[in-house]
Amino acid sequence: MSRLRIFNEGEPGTPLQVVRDHAGMAAELAKIGVRFEQWEANAPLPPGASPEQVMAAYRADIDRLIEDNGFRTVDVVSIHPEHPDRETMRKKFLDEHYHKEDEVRFFVAGSGLFTLHVDGRVYEILCEQGDLIGVPDSTLHWFDMGPSPHFVAIRFFTEPDGWVGYFTGTDIAQQFPRFEAGQAL
Ligand SMILES: [Fe+2]
Repeated sequence: MSRLRIFNEGEPGTPLQVVRDHAGMAAELAKIGVRFEQWEANAPLPPGASPEQVMAAYRADIDRLIEDNGFRTVDVVSIHPEHPDRETMRKKFLDEHYHKEDEVRFFVAGSGLFTLHVDGRVYEILCEQGDLIGVPDSTLHWFDMGPSPHFVAIRFFTEPDGWVGYFTGTDIAQQFPRFEAGQAL
């Protein structure tokens, strides 16, 4: 189940608020400019569906988002628990960073943990199948796919060659919960 937990930045052990319903999550996240939506496929997707099949199943929502935000490319990324580079991939965005364009991901399958650091608060967002998250450019955040990563995600880009994380050098991400395999959610 999707979940939002909001913390004070200095109190990683005690959430101020826990929200588990999608509408409530979307409302809290809208306050900090974060888009959070649920999409439904227009046709059942078989396991191992091709990127083309995945995009066809969500075509109307994809086109709406492109129209709204001017994204120039869309792709589908798939990560499995046995991926040989999973540790390296996990580490890549585990520390606090930002991008110069929005980070927009739709979870076709699986899950991932986005954590945002905004105005003294920390917003931990467990994204599950069917969730779309749009993190605005310049928002400080980190992303954890966990030690046994599993997700298929549609990604939206404005500058496909320029996907760069700018790291802040803080250790705040290390103080907050990681996405552990089998963690009680
Ligand atoms: Fe990022």
